[in-house]
Amino acid sequence: MKIFRRYKSGRGVVLHLGDCLDLLHQLPSSSVDLTITSPPYCMGKEYERTDRLNCFVEAHLRILPEIIRVTKTGGSICWQVGHHIRKGVATPLDYVVNDLMRQWQQIVLRNRIIWTFGHGLHGSNRFSGRHETILWYSKGDSYKFNLDDVRVPQKYPGKRFYKGVKKGEFSCNPLGKNPGDVWELPNVKAHHIEKTNHPCQFPVALAQRLIRALTNKGDIVLDPFIGSGTTAAAAILESRCIIGAEKKEKYYRTAIRRINDASSQTLAYRPLEKPIQDPDPRSEVARNPFVITNGKEKINGNGTENGSRSSHFPLFDRQTRGNHTRTIHRPG
Ligand SMILES: C[S@@+](CC[C@H](N)C(=O)[O-])C[C@H]1O[C@@H](n2cnc3c(N)ncnc32)[C@H](O)[C@@H]1O
Repeated sequence: MKIFRRYKSGRGVVLHLGDCLDLLHQLPSSSVDLTITSPPYCMGKEYERTDRLNCFVEAHLRILPEIIRVTKTGGSICWQVGHHIRKGVATPLDYVVNDLMRQWQQIVLRNRIIWTFGHGLHGSNRFSGRHETILWYSKGDSYKFNLDDVRVPQKYPGKRFYKGVKKGEFSCNPLGKNPGDVWELPNVKAHHIEKTNHPCQFPVALAQRLIRALTNKGDIVLDPFIGSGTTAAAAILESRCIIGAEKKEKYYRTAIRRINDASSQTLAYRPLEKPIQDPDPRSEVARNPFVITNGKEKINGNGTENGSRSSHFPLFDRQTRGNHTRTIHRPG
């Protein structure tokens, strides 16, 4: 697959190594159908120079006018962010982005999508963070929304109307239901099939669902902070054009590799349709070695004995690990 470094109309894949503003300045006004991106959160990551919230705002004041300029009327902008946390103070970055976006009247918020995932750091002073958000904006009042391309299976597909003229007929859409605005997609951690050398990838499936819903084949997708090239890989899987920028060469190279893998259909990725896995209850790691039998703590340390749970609630009342002792209270 030919990957161009500079933008020219009609080029299918453009990947700029350097500052995204240099790329954006090359793009004509109203040339992009969809932007999907996750900007640096200014949390002191290795690809960031700062951990200050005001730097996040300043960077957005520079980039957002350009993103809006290059977006076609009827196009969409999807901004994926989490929280900024400094000295224990959490600021939801979607609040910050939305405050900035409100100055453009033609930019309309359509959804605030919660992306939730089961794994991550375990908090000890706050609830562990298990979601981030995607703000979806359209430019103007009309926009593409290909709902049928992103429907998901219903819980009860055999349900029927129980009254009215359609009584007895199946009530659900045979193509499936709207996926809603809470998306559970595993995040890309160590054992995820998509993991690369990038510390903060979003999953291919997240970009794929947005691309399918908000663009048509051949449309132009932009990611100004492309990192490991996730948006690019998803765009190629979905037969869309991609324009992106990455300032760090090691991630730029990863993006090139993933673009080539996507185009030769050898990309390692987790399909959007794949259900979230429940742990196999027979596996050793899924079995609890600390069980309560008749109110007594029993240690099943070697993992070979099947312990029976005497209650649905805490699997053990007192847990001792190293120097830390936690007491878990039973309800009622
Ligand atoms: C949160 S990561 C994006 C990760 C990406 N969504 C993925 O799945 O791999 C942000 C990326 O933007 C890059 N970056 C930061 N500032 C940039 C700039 N001014 N121009 C281009 N890339 C930049 C960083 O090096 C980093 O790889």
